[in-house]
Amino acid sequence: MFRRQMKKTPSGIAPIIRVDRRAREPLHRQVYNAFRSAIVERALRPNERVPSTRTLAGELGISRIPVLNAYAQLLAEGYFESRRGAGTSVSSMLPDQVAPPPRSAALPGMMPRPISRHCAPLPSMQTILPWLGGRRGAFSIGQPALDQFPLKIWSRLVVRQCGNQRLASMYYSDPMGTTDLREAIASYLRTARGVRCEAEQVMIVSGSQQAVEITTRVLLDRGSRVWMEEPGYRFAWNVFALNGCKVVPVPVDAEGLNVAVGIKRCPKARAALVTPSHQFPLGVTMSASRRLQVLEWSYRSGSWIIEDDYDSEFRYESLPIASLQGLDRGSRVVYIGTFSKVLFPSLRLGYIVIPLDLVDRFLAVRVTVDIGPPTFFQSVVADFMREGHFSRHIRRMRLLYRDRRSALLKSLENDLGVPVDVKGEEAGLHLSVTLPRGFRDHEIAERALQERLWLAPLSGSYLKHPSPQGLILGFSNTSTAEIPGAVRKLRDILHSR
Ligand SMILES: Cc1ncc(COP(=O)(O)O)c(C=O)c1O
Repeated sequence: MFRRQMKKTPSGIAPIIRVDRRAREPLHRQVYNAFRSAIVERALRPNERVPSTRTLAGELGISRIPVLNAYAQLLAEGYFESRRGAGTSVSSMLPDQVAPPPRSAALPGMMPRPISRHCAPLPSMQTILPWLGGRRGAFSIGQPALDQFPLKIWSRLVVRQCGNQRLASMYYSDPMGTTDLREAIASYLRTARGVRCEAEQVMIVSGSQQAVEITTRVLLDRGSRVWMEEPGYRFAWNVFALNGCKVVPVPVDAEGLNVAVGIKRCPKARAALVTPSHQFPLGVTMSASRRLQVLEWSYRSGSWIIEDDYDSEFRYESLPIASLQGLDRGSRVVYIGTFSKVLFPSLRLGYIVIPLDLVDRFLAVRVTVDIGPPTFFQSVVADFMREGHFSRHIRRMRLLYRDRRSALLKSLENDLGVPVDVKGEEAGLHLSVTLPRGFRDHEIAERALQERLWLAPLSGSYLKHPSPQGLILGFSNTSTAEIPGAVRKLRDILHSR
């Protein structure tokens, strides 16, 4: 970048330190950067003398001021030191080896850089895009109809909240979350979800993902065994893996988690993570008898139940099914909810309903993890709920999603041309289809992505191999008009295999 070659000069520094007077970067910055790079790359070593500012300015053919400024900065940052009578030199305090070895070089004698054995499995973009991709195409999973969100009302509340900002709102706030929002959530959960709770048990978190993380850190140790539904929610498995827990896959059948198999496989598991209202991804509703079985198991074995109630507001054939937590009389259930589906996912707000005697434990972990949740959008959501927009929005979306779901079911029947077994269409924002023999769901999902269909392979939700092949199809963010076209594209992909 230093285009202007300087003639060789007595100090020997100018070939290293070059400047370009036509460059946009100020001269003092160029001199500073050039010295710093030379030191980091060891062209200049500790204790090495550097020329006086006057000499260097002369050699570079520039005024002394930028050189003076650069030297002052290098002295202030500790790259240079100056001793009375001895001039300025590269600091003697700098470590010998400053520059890292090239990334790819496995230098002999270099220690490997250790990372945790409990690292979460590295997700490929292919696996996470259908989940996090946003509205980029039909079928993306768990994405609400954001174009139907009452953005005007929301913006008004945001603006009002901006006007409410006071000095007091800038301090650290309650690590459990704002009282207003916790009260609004507790009241909503008691009436709409049959959850037995008070506001003091509600902790606001940044979505279900953080809820599972905090819950894991409170309840589980490294090596703890956890029942997970098979197929199940991969993002939760990853949290357990990250924390060194051992996932015990327990099959799901038409009644939900097969508790008897779980007891056979691992009777003393420390916890079970379940999605009883709308099993993820198969969409089964856990039967009453399984609910009671899993509770009884937890009482007998001293285990915990983590209930992930992520999209239960949307049920199309009957009223929403009350939570498992509401049946619990032994304070065994930790209940997790999210605003990602009922409002929007980038909000990153969710909540945990904690058994009362564990609130302090959760609080200790929470404060350690991130001190507390940001307050601004908590207040906006509290207003949104208190003023009735929340329940109105859910009611509207329930009707909209019901229509979209019906359109998808109809189109799968009429347009797909491949017999598939549809599961989980009674509730939620997605359904799944199992494919006949011979289809490989990963390949189909990859090809579908090229056609802007954001579906996910069902086998990705299984731990076991070989796993059933199928597709998870979100319908909530795809308009009824778009659905037949999207299904026909899927048909072409299936037929061209
Ligand atoms: C089973 C399940 N739980 C929870 C969530 C929501 O996660 P979050 O609240 O972290 O956005 C999803 C989203 O798709 C999900 O499928």
